[in-house]
Amino acid sequence: MPIQLIVASPEPRFHDFVREQMALTPNAEVVGQHEDMGPNLSVRILQDVNLNPQSAVLLDISADQEQGLRALEQIKLAFPKLYVILSGVQCSEEFLLRSMRLGGADFLQQPLKRAEFSDAIARVEQHGERLHRQSRQLGRMYTFVGVKGGVGTTTAAVNFAALCARQGKSTVLVDLDMDSGDAACYLGLRHQYSMADVAENLDQLDQAMLEGIMVRDPLGFWVLCAPEEVERSRLIGEQHLREIGSFLIERFDAVIIDGSRALDDLLLSCLELSESIFVVLTQEFPAVRNAQRYLGALARAGYGLEAVKLVLNRVDKKGSLYVNLEQLKQTLGAAPFWGLPNRYEEAMQSVHEARPVVTRGNTELGRSYRDFAKKLGMDGQPAAVLQKK
Ligand SMILES: Nc1ncnc2c1ncn2[C@@H]1O[C@H](COP(=O)(O)OP(=O)(O)OP(=O)(O)O)[C@@H](O)[C@H]1O
Ligand SMILES: [Mg+2]
Repeated sequence: MPIQLIVASPEPRFHDFVREQMALTPNAEVVGQHEDMGPNLSVRILQDVNLNPQSAVLLDISADQEQGLRALEQIKLAFPKLYVILSGVQCSEEFLLRSMRLGGADFLQQPLKRAEFSDAIARVEQHGERLHRQSRQLGRMYTFVGVKGGVGTTTAAVNFAALCARQGKSTVLVDLDMDSGDAACYLGLRHQYSMADVAENLDQLDQAMLEGIMVRDPLGFWVLCAPEEVERSRLIGEQHLREIGSFLIERFDAVIIDGSRALDDLLLSCLELSESIFVVLTQEFPAVRNAQRYLGALARAGYGLEAVKLVLNRVDKKGSLYVNLEQLKQTLGAAPFWGLPNRYEEAMQSVHEARPVVTRGNTELGRSYRDFAKKLGMDGQPAAVLQKK
């Protein structure tokens, strides 16, 4: 998030110092400067805040502490959530207490020092992130669970993530297939880091670190890849996933999980946070049998049919070698929520081009994915502007 600062001080050298330090801080800028500390100072600062509602204020009170407190009081009355840093030469404890009671957030001792200034700016940034998190709703997690290998789970998760991103949702796709994570490969993305790096550094996890670890698809969504090394995959536990999942839904509108893996404790820990669980299957006998087992396990774990939706891939209405739709419904006790057509050429061409099928012209499979999203209440129209995180 950008860091914006409005600075008020009668001292040109104070302004010079702040400008220089802000220029050295990534993503930071001074959006207002006031040397005239006259009686209408708070009004001028408030005008700046109106123009830059995300900004913080740095108020030099060294020339007149009482006037500084009055300005602080007026500013905080107008904008109670505004982050105001006071700065002075020497202030008594009593003065600091009064400034705290009026809502001062921080204090910088003069002469200003680089390290202390940069720590204060880091606190401004954290405050901004906290406000941002509080003001937005939690995102939604959608988990795709494959009842067996090769049923099309990764294809479904990748296309669903692409659709979310095209609708302007900030989106992350999490590859939970620790054995052969394919998501990045289906998108032609190279990655150096993975979920193992997040799990190993959970105590320092923040947005910047996460963005350094994930890779980004040209459509704007992020991918948190599975580790390349099998040994590192084993270090990722349920608690890691719970924490990573919570972190992601606080920051992204849509969190898509590629659960091409057994229904184990790791996958179950993701389901706790999921709004929808898409069980992907085909009409092959072993897939339907496994789907029955999966639905049973999910029901025992407390996930009923309002959360669990069957996605039937490669629908074949006639083939005698497959379980027909009526038998499937009887065996599973529910009709599929969605059926995707059997379009091997289209699916393979999209893997070959490393682009989700929903982005490729007029394909039957792409259309079916778009209608699937519509049935879930997601608007079918792509957004004009991609939302960046
Ligand atoms: N609707 C479809 N019609 C035809 N082929 C499809 C369809 N969806 C996916 N496929 C193809 O099926 C194969 C397996 O798909 P995918 O990798 O998505 O499955 P998976 O369940 O994630 O497999 P894994 O167990 O390896 O993780 C791929 O070649 C893919 O292109
Ligand atoms: Mg897969």
